[in-house]
Amino acid sequence: MIERALTRQETVSVAAITEEAENVLTLRFDWDQLAAPGQFVMVWLPDVDEVPMSLSYIGGRKGITVKNVGEATKALTSLQVGDRFVVRGPYGRGYHLPQGKILAVGGGTGMASLLPAMERIPADRVDTAIGARTEKELIFEERAKGTSSNVRVSTDDGSKGFHGNAVQLAKEMMDASDHDAVIACGPEKMLYYLHQLCVEKGIPHQMSLERYMKCGAGLCGSCAIDGKRVCREGPVFSGEDLKEMKEFGRQRRDECGGRVRL
Ligand SMILES: Cc1cc2nc3c(=O)[nH]c(=O)nc-3n(C[C@H](O)[C@H](O)[C@H](O)COP(=O)(O)OP(=O)(O)OC[C@H]3O[C@@H](n4cnc5c(N)ncnc54)[C@H](O)[C@@H]3O)c2cc1C
Ligand code: FES
Repeated sequence: MIERALTRQETVSVAAITEEAENVLTLRFDWDQLAAPGQFVMVWLPDVDEVPMSLSYIGGRKGITVKNVGEATKALTSLQVGDRFVVRGPYGRGYHLPQGKILAVGGGTGMASLLPAMERIPADRVDTAIGARTEKELIFEERAKGTSSNVRVSTDDGSKGFHGNAVQLAKEMMDASDHDAVIACGPEKMLYYLHQLCVEKGIPHQMSLERYMKCGAGLCGSCAIDGKRVCREGPVFSGEDLKEMKEFGRQRRDECGGRVRL
């Protein structure tokens, strides 16, 4: 069982590369593993590192959308078409596709996790709020338009769309129209305040969390949040689960297991 969880891996080649924004690009690769919206893979570049990445495309030609923030992501964003890397997974529990009218809220690279779910829901049932610090960091606005009836963007500096953060924009959209569910992925502070808003408004919600991951397969415990393994019981958690988590929005653990305030 342990062996199977860790050795379900394959070497794949970069089939196509799309630049999504400054420092963010999507690597497409052909891989026939079945995957559900919201699941992630462990991506290994031998001699560099192995890191978790959400699947931004889940068909036969899969995709990961990588923001260059450090050693592994720099190496991934330097790959060329034809270069090879190793993937294992897919892992984790993704989104339960909700009924009724949905508000999808993505911050940073969070849209990567949300889009495969949005693409399985008829566009007339989806509104989307995409947040970024500045216009140059916005990703997937055009792709979201193909799968939503109403796409709005927010930038912290006001360079495009709503001047403010994604939670403030989500509140405006919730006030303007009734939503039966919210799905969200992005920086944890954003998710924390969005969770508070959904609780206040009584809207069921699901949010995808990030924690430091080593095995990605439920074995090492490095990704635990209040006793739940983000790689196994998550990364997508319901609003009810989030209400029980004392660490949510407050602290995470670093690669050595030390507590880090968010
Ligand atoms: C379930 C999940 C899905 C993710 N999806 C995406 C995605 O779609 N696109 C994207 O750009 N990023 C995604 N990330 C974050 C990505 O894994 C980190 O940015 C990456 O690991 C950074 O590694 P680095 O060597 O480039 O940077 P480093 O300098 O090593 O680290 C920069 C920061 O990234 C985080 N990080 C580093 N290693 C890990 C690790 N093994 N597990 C979790 N966090 C780590 C830490 O917070 C660290 O402070 C996801 C993380 C998780 C847990
Ligand atoms: S990363 Fe090892 S248990 Fe989650």
